[in-house]
Amino acid sequence: MGSSAITAITIGLCLVLVAVYFASDSYRVMQNVIITTGLSENSYVKSALNFLKPDEKDQGSSVARDDLNKPKKSQQLLLSPEELKSYDGGPDSKGLYLAILGEIFDVEKGAQHYRPGGGYSFFVGRDAARAYITGDFSETGLIDDVSDLDSASLASLEDWLSFYKEEYKPVGKVVGKYYDFNGQPTELLLSIREKMNVGKGNKWAEDKNKEIFPPCNSEWSKERGSKVWCSKKSGGIDREWVGVPRELHIQGKDPRCVCVKNYGPPSTDPNSNQHNNNGDLDYPLLKEYPNCPPASESCTVSHP
Ligand code: HEM
Repeated sequence: MGSSAITAITIGLCLVLVAVYFASDSYRVMQNVIITTGLSENSYVKSALNFLKPDEKDQGSSVARDDLNKPKKSQQLLLSPEELKSYDGGPDSKGLYLAILGEIFDVEKGAQHYRPGGGYSFFVGRDAARAYITGDFSETGLIDDVSDLDSASLASLEDWLSFYKEEYKPVGKVVGKYYDFNGQPTELLLSIREKMNVGKGNKWAEDKNKEIFPPCNSEWSKERGSKVWCSKKSGGIDREWVGVPRELHIQGKDPRCVCVKNYGPPSTDPNSNQHNNNGDLDYPLLKEYPNCPPASESCTVSHP
């Protein structure tokens, strides 16, 4: 390349640099810095470049220091049980937080219940999952240990968890029993969740069972003895059919009076075209009441 070409390129580059330099606010800022710091323009540019370059040491420390307690999309708030205590709404409190099974919720919205003096203030600043089930609001009862609760109780606890998820903002996790230092569920939490699912499944089956075989109405009097009968609402189950009383015998449970749909297809196969048009009456664990006509909606089961 000839010397005139090199000169032309150099001049061109200089012109571009000068244009950028003067066109932006950076000129004024740079002048200011040069004046106040005494840095040469060259060292200013170097410092600016250093500033823009991600510095692992600085980045790490500033994020850790400033944002440790701020929940972020990617970085959730992780508190020890001890740290959670400082979110109890007291004089130097950092907020109004409570936890269930290690999941922290901001309950500021419900401050009327949770602030000091509120009816449920004992729930904040801690994980008192157990007390949601036992109703034991003493200091010994307000604890996070639920390992000995049965699956039905754990299913109820899940209802509380769902309530908080719906009503309040989840803000993080308590590190320890239910979440590890990375905010991941512990083995204990996973096993509790499994038990919870069993409880939910059983409850679903029970509810379903109650829908198919709702309890009978019953009454007892000295004069007439005891009577069971069916209606469109018995055992708290509203339905379109009345049914007939039968005794349901489930192994391991006391026999009980249930109302059984006595027309249409069986509930286990509601779309069937081939059925006896006697509803669920063919279910094998049902027994007729003695001396009661099979189609009667009412049976006297014991005489005075
Ligand atoms: C295991 C027993 C119980 C537990 C764990 C419990 C728990 C709670 C909690 C956590 C709240 C606040 C809900 C929110 O954030 O909005 C609440 C509200 C309330 N509870 Fe209970 N409770 C229990 C039993 C009772 C009983 C037996 C009664 C009544 C005699 C009752 C009456 C109320 C009332 C009136 C409210 C306020 C509802 C509102 O203003 O929206 N609770 N309960």
